[in-house]
Amino acid sequence: MTDRRIDAKWWKSSTIYQIYPSSFMDSNGDGIGDLPGILSKLDYIKSLGVDAVWISPFYKSPNKDQGYDISDYQMPDPAYGSMADVEAIIKGCHDRDMKIIFDLVINHTSDQHKWFQESRKSKDNPYRKYYIWKPARYIDGERRPPTNWEATFGGSAWEWDETTEEYYLHAFVVEQPDLNWEDAEVRQAIYKEAILFWLEKGIDGFRVDVSSHYSKHEYVDAPIIKPEQYIQPARAKYVDGPRLREYLEEMQRETFSKYDSVTLAEMSGTRTLENKLDFVGESSKRFSMAISFDLATVDHYGREATYLWWKPYDLQEFKKITEAEQFLSGPNTDGWALTYLENHDQARSISRFMNDSPEYRTISGKTLAMYLLTLSGTPIIYQGEEIGMINMPKSWPEAEYIDAASWMFIQTVRDDIQKGVKGIAEEEAFESLQRIARDHARVPMQWSNDHSAGFSSSAKTWMRVNPSYKAGINVAEEEKDECSVLNFYRRMLAFRKEHSDSLIFGEYQNLEAETEKTMQFSKKSFDGETLFVALNFSGEQQKASLPDSKGELLISSSTHPDQEDILQPYEGRIYRV
Ligand code: NOJ
Ligand code: CA
Repeated sequence: MTDRRIDAKWWKSSTIYQIYPSSFMDSNGDGIGDLPGILSKLDYIKSLGVDAVWISPFYKSPNKDQGYDISDYQMPDPAYGSMADVEAIIKGCHDRDMKIIFDLVINHTSDQHKWFQESRKSKDNPYRKYYIWKPARYIDGERRPPTNWEATFGGSAWEWDETTEEYYLHAFVVEQPDLNWEDAEVRQAIYKEAILFWLEKGIDGFRVDVSSHYSKHEYVDAPIIKPEQYIQPARAKYVDGPRLREYLEEMQRETFSKYDSVTLAEMSGTRTLENKLDFVGESSKRFSMAISFDLATVDHYGREATYLWWKPYDLQEFKKITEAEQFLSGPNTDGWALTYLENHDQARSISRFMNDSPEYRTISGKTLAMYLLTLSGTPIIYQGEEIGMINMPKSWPEAEYIDAASWMFIQTVRDDIQKGVKGIAEEEAFESLQRIARDHARVPMQWSNDHSAGFSSSAKTWMRVNPSYKAGINVAEEEKDECSVLNFYRRMLAFRKEHSDSLIFGEYQNLEAETEKTMQFSKKSFDGETLFVALNFSGEQQKASLPDSKGELLISSSTHPDQEDILQPYEGRIYRV
């Protein structure tokens, strides 16, 4: 048994707040969030009680994938502001005793990046080797991509380039060519441009985008699942390739470790516990923590097949995933868990896992806060989650779903139907968008009752504002209400610090509950304090199955908790036992 508090790095006892720059706060009335907007809200973020801020990409970008297609690693996009603004944010966070984490997108660049602009010019251009170029293949005299691989959001993963008459690889959208990590010089250029530059400026770490993608498998066809067409689902071909571990160790050694910086690695490929420990165990020297996808896809049909296909989630599976993830922070490993319910790639958690109706939204949001903030490891709160924001209205038309992943998903479904591929019906596809599209998280943050939810002085915002701000889901209203989701987050964050021995560093134990509709677990500290957490995920009353004798109720997400250990619909409770 290890006491996990010993020598714990700062990020182990931290909570991280994630900002999506285009939708956080617009300072100049152009309808797009920006860096001065972020700066103006640092006091608000600090007031929540979080310890670190992660900002999604704000670098120069043509926004084909909302900033995850970077055309200049060392410049903020002019729509967001200047380098002076970036520096002010770094300083602003540090002045408030918060750490600052940037996004690192180095599996691919934008096709507008100078490296790619050069690379596509000629086969003997010095930058040719920066990307993955392959000749066409001819089948019955017809030109085809070099392999049958499908890109993550649909369509071929290869794009034909007229100038040099070859294909380049892109795991995401066409405008996001994959970098060629196999070349040592390319890796060095990435480290220098994208990583060391910012570490030198004093940031505290990175969230590392699709970090299991850098090493590709052999360029051979993926198995045929859709015999009606050439392109086949192929995610496994560009995730977790044979040289991944080698690259990650090199990157750690040559960049992050020199600055002792934290890394939150987005690892969609890691599934088993051994696999995760391989990447985040202290002894593995790869990353600090992994953003894993198990919980994020609990309400998706197999990611391998179709990106956004929704299915109802199963609470038993939800619990199993949580337990497995918690093991990472337990006494028998050298890993560390990272927990989240939301980010810019996920729909709103109240709408997904609880009940977003006016009657139950508040208690649902508070109970999810209790889930997130009683687990061991490092939690991430996504902007708006702390005020209980919900999905876009069901009445909104397809045109409001502007994310590439959304429209490419719908397009793939329509193509499949036309070709007679067995799969999703069109209505089912639209329902999937209504449930789990990434757009839900990307609409503007709701600050007040003012027009455009106080996000912008303009009535025209880059994404439509969710009208729910008028129903009290906004910061200003929730500030005034002692029982709001917002104030509950503050309370829970303070509570988490007070009980850090059990909540952050303690041992998680899933407890058999009398009912399948609840999740009940205990958190035990190294020195013996045990807290018991009971969360009701259903719309009916349930029993809190306290272990042993009666416990002392410390917090409830209900304003009128029952005295007899009966949980109200969607209520969560913490007891000392
Ligand atoms: C993961 C990012 O979170 C997502 O928004 C993006 O589309 C892909 N990586 C590609 O960079
Ligand atoms: Ca702006």
